Amino acid sequence: MRNLYIAALGVAAMTVTSIGTVFAAEDYGKYQVEDRRSGYTYAAKETQAIQDDNFENPAMLWVDDGSVLWEQAEGEVGKACASCHEDAADSMKMTGAEYPKHNPKLGKMQNLEQRINQCRTENMKAKPFKYESAEMLGMTTFVRHQSNGQAMSVKVDGEVAPFFKKGEAFYNQRRGQLDMSCKNCHGDNSGNMARANMLSEGQSNGFPTYRLKWQKPGSIHRRFRGCNKNIRAKPFGYGSEEYVNLELYVAWRGRGLPVETPAVRN
Ligand code: HEC
Ligand code: HEC
Repeated sequence: MRNLYIAALGVAAMTVTSIGTVFAAEDYGKYQVEDRRSGYTYAAKETQAIQDDNFENPAMLWVDDGSVLWEQAEGEVGKACASCHEDAADSMKMTGAEYPKHNPKLGKMQNLEQRINQCRTENMKAKPFKYESAEMLGMTTFVRHQSNGQAMSVKVDGEVAPFFKKGEAFYNQRRGQLDMSCKNCHGDNSGNMARANMLSEGQSNGFPTYRLKWQKPGSIHRRFRGCNKNIRAKPFGYGSEEYVNLELYVAWRGRGLPVETPAVRN
């Protein structure tokens, strides 16, 4: 039954062994760690070229906007991010590789967007940024860009373990009218075609990612929502606990891959 659905989505009938031979000879350099490959290695050469050149990568405009916001005092306290965190290249060097993190005060996981908003509301007495707003995309893209090249290294043990389990369960859970899980596409079928796209491993190391289709960067939660909608499943809310736990699990799947924000994909 599920094969029928995969066929309906246009996932090409290629055997796993044949994929193995196709890719066996390739050297993906820093974009591969053990058996894990960045979405970069599945992208078309032209798309890779846009990501490689900072002057051509359109998402660098968002990085620039984020750097301006970083210096801008806002809110009742009259402070900017830079007032406390100074040079982002130092203070945010590991941040992008380590989120989502467990927040003891909240008793749950917190992703980068939520940590930034905590600083805005508590430390600056400023309004939180809206998810997917130009400001939030600019700030998250800027902050995560500071971690470029660092190995993805979310903590998953100790107090994080129960949240990790939930993220993992979400990833493996079939859902939607097409009754498919994330794993069905990104675990079992990476390297196969789904309609016009080659399925990647669904890694998160390049987020926020500039999609040529969106003509702007988008958060990982926007991507999750798109993938959920494609299988006609109910998308969860931006910043929902379900998606933050899923984000944790997906980040762990890509452990060791370098942060490459802002990535470019089609
Ligand atoms: C008044 C001081 C102050 C201001 C202003 C401030 N922060 Fe923070 N921020 C903190 C403190 C304190 C922490 C917690 C430090 C820790 O956990 O080591 C923190 C933590 C963070 C973290 C988590 C870092 C990590 O690696 O875990 C991020 C990201 C962050 N802030 C971003 C921002 C951004 C973006 C702004 C501006 C919109 C901002 N902060 C404004 C004080 C501030
Ligand atoms: C029907 C197949 C399908 C399912 C199921 C699916 N996706 Fe995707 N997903 C895609 C396609 C197609 C793309 C774009 C090409 C690619 O990178 O695989 C994509 C892209 C992604 C990307 C971006 C990868 C990058 O390098 O930018 C992430 C992350 C992702 N998916 C996560 C998920 C998660 C998490 C789930 C489960 C909630 C999921 N996907 C379910 C088809 C699917």
